Amino acid sequence: MEYAATITGTGSAFPEHRVTNHDIADRLAASNIETSDVWIRERTGIAERRFSTPGNSDEYNSSLGLAAAQKALEMAGKAPEDIDQIIYSTCTPDTIIPSTACWLQYKLGAVRAWGMDLNAACSGFIYGLTIADQFIRTNQVKTCLVVGAEILSSIINWQDRSSCILFGDGAGAAIVESAPSEFPHRILSSHLLSDGSLWELLHVPAGGSAQAATPDIMAQNLNKIHMNGREIFKIAVRTLTSFAMTALEKNGMTVDMLDWFIPHQANYRIIEAVAKRLELPMEKVLVNVDRYGNTSSATVPSMLDEAVRDGRIQKGQTVLLDAFGAGLTYGAILLRW
Ligand code: ACO
Repeated sequence: MEYAATITGTGSAFPEHRVTNHDIADRLAASNIETSDVWIRERTGIAERRFSTPGNSDEYNSSLGLAAAQKALEMAGKAPEDIDQIIYSTCTPDTIIPSTACWLQYKLGAVRAWGMDLNAACSGFIYGLTIADQFIRTNQVKTCLVVGAEILSSIINWQDRSSCILFGDGAGAAIVESAPSEFPHRILSSHLLSDGSLWELLHVPAGGSAQAATPDIMAQNLNKIHMNGREIFKIAVRTLTSFAMTALEKNGMTVDMLDWFIPHQANYRIIEAVAKRLELPMEKVLVNVDRYGNTSSATVPSMLDEAVRDGRIQKGQTVLLDAFGAGLTYGAILLRW
């Protein structure tokens, strides 16, 4: 017997604290760095984002992941003990060891599950969903919890006005279950690629084993995000478009057959440019970057959850998930809801 993977529940969670562009401008002004609400809105489409409160254990990465996972389980009608596998996508883990997957497994009481962290930056949820799909197709796993969660506020470089305006914290989760291979509501195909030669475009130079985060290193912000935004912008538009086309072509479909497009939420202008290249009307593009900023691997699952819960995504519709991230990493998944 052959199997397919179907998403039966979604969830998302964000910290309480809203940070507006005005708040960011005020914070930067204290260091004599200039920005404005108008500039951020016009260049990124972001109006506000959420930051977890440092030291608040209810807003640790794994705590947001827990809240998202519990909602996804509830939607799926499943209990924590039903989970066989946890794939936890994050580049801002609670701790280096243990993995955030293990923290979540413990907090959730998913006593039968094995779990691991996965770091593909903003493409992470799509990488995670692909892993779940493969384990389910080969009948190694019946029920998988895939989480994308980030506390990007912990690595924001407040000396760099082009990147500090972009990021936020949040989590999204999906319960992925086994179904017969021709089940209509399933993951149709997934497409992944990494290009490590472009590492320099978005990286955190120190804080890993190659370069420790000493006081001197931290004073230079080398344990924070360093980004070439202009270059990433161009690559993102090109690759999001090409991965979308690849996923559609693989399934013998055309853009007009798509009901919903969920791109990684990095910048509204990137999203708009991709939609234009695909000749896809913006009414079919799901966007939450205005309210949450770029939450890396949490953008795609939190957007999916929002649109499932508010009824925009309906059973039987075709949905394309599409992302790019630091690495660089790329990925797309076409699914029938
Ligand atoms: N406020 C005011 N001015 C600013 C700001 C700011 N916050 N940031 C940059 N500027 C200035 C620049 O200094 C520059 O001034 P200059 O012309 O005098 O040199 C001017 O604005 C234009 O700068 P650009 O970099 O060309 O601006 P752009 O329109 O490209 O917007 C941005 C910059 C928002 C970073 C954009 O390039 C972008 O979103 N890139 C993609 C970044 C991204 O997606 N990163 C996430 C990757 S995914 C992951 O894994 C996390």
